[in-house]
Amino acid sequence: MDGRGAPIDGPQVRLRRPRAEDHPLLFDWYNDAERVAPYDRFAVDTYTGFQRALLEAAASLESMAPRYVVERRSDAKLLGFVGYYRAHPVLTILDVWYVLGEPGERGKGYGSEAVGLLVGHLFRTHPVERVGATCDVDNLASVRLLEKLHFTREGTLRTTLFHHGRWHDAHVYGLTRAEWAAEHPSAGN
Ligand SMILES: CC(C)(COP(=O)(O)OP(=O)(O)OC[C@H]1O[C@@H](n2cnc3c(N)ncnc32)[C@H](O)[C@@H]1OP(=O)(O)O)[C@@H](O)C(=O)NCCC(=O)NCCS
Repeated sequence: MDGRGAPIDGPQVRLRRPRAEDHPLLFDWYNDAERVAPYDRFAVDTYTGFQRALLEAAASLESMAPRYVVERRSDAKLLGFVGYYRAHPVLTILDVWYVLGEPGERGKGYGSEAVGLLVGHLFRTHPVERVGATCDVDNLASVRLLEKLHFTREGTLRTTLFHHGRWHDAHVYGLTRAEWAAEHPSAGN
């Protein structure tokens, strides 16, 4: 059970738990295939099912529901959401995912700051030695984001992600605790 729900602040953005008043906007983003799905999983959920998944996420490492919203600190505008989930039934693989729901707010550094905060939070609060992510090989923004955060490309899964009428390849990225600690010497890890 991950009961640690305190906001996580960076210079520009805050990660905080979704509130009831956020749910309609998050649901709209989640169900807009071109915001969420060009490179990622997409499923149309009912509004009540989506709300239930948000509320139950904290109790399950397997949940792929959004776990934190990304809020701009200067004006509290909702920018996106992020999550993490146990990505393998046997191996200790905790993967992160991330979406800036407002395309006009992309490319301003918010995504990499938000994912950096999430990764730091996971290493501080979970007994994992590696945090991972997968992304479509054509998703250059995601590739750049992960490499900026010092993730290593560990391989490429072939024909593993279906969208826009065909199968796509996906890169597997990983960041070990030792690599993260080397980049954050004052993190007190
Ligand atoms: C992926 C995503 C979260 C990145 O967030 P962002 O706020 O736009 O990213 P940042 O501004 O922090 O930029 C991170 C890096 O990517 C680069 N970048 C951003 N958009 C890019 C684009 N469209 N093409 C190429 N590089 C891009 C930035 O220049 C930056 O690299 P740099 O600092 O070395 O110059 C955002 O684009 C998004 O929500 N995309 C749709 C959903 C998605 O694809 N999620 C990931 C699924 S794996």
